[in-house]
Amino acid sequence: MSDGPGTDAPSCAGSARVVAFVALASCLTVGLVVYTLRHRPPALPADADHRTGQTASECLSCHGPGTKSPRGPNHPVAEGSCFNCHASA
Ligand code: HEC
Ligand code: HEC
Repeated sequence: MSDGPGTDAPSCAGSARVVAFVALASCLTVGLVVYTLRHRPPALPADADHRTGQTASECLSCHGPGTKSPRGPNHPVAEGSCFNCHASA
């Protein structure tokens, strides 16, 4: 009785929904992992600008808005403690 076409149709639709849900969930997971890996804070370059110990306000004299190497618009809001996230070179 359960093999009748009347009962098959709803169970097919149900599994299609499950497949769609699993596919969507997988895409979301992969997307979030890739986003996280790609938005790691970069380490300081080992050049003359970065060799010396510096305070956040010194960093911002080059990386603040309108300076020679401003942080991008996606940068987390952070005016101090650059080394909480960025490793020194
Ligand atoms: C004298 C100016 C100057 C100072 C001071 C300075 N920077 Fe930089 N910084 C630059 C320039 C120019 C670049 C980009 C060119 C390069 O790679 O050197 C850069 C690059 C960076 C990068 C790498 C960006 C990337 O896309 O890989 C990070 C992170 C960074 N700086 C953080 C800091 C921090 C934190 C401080 C304070 C401890 C600091 N900087 C002080 C000029 C400066
Ligand atoms: C909360 C963690 C955090 C703190 C604190 C932080 N940063 Fe960043 N920084 C990041 C991340 C994450 C990125 C990479 C952004 C991206 O890839 O979109 C980044 C990128 C940068 C870059 C490369 C340009 C850019 O915008 O992608 C520079 C330069 C930089 N930070 C400077 C600084 C300076 C200077 C300070 C201190 C005043 C600081 N950061 C504090 C997390 C942080």
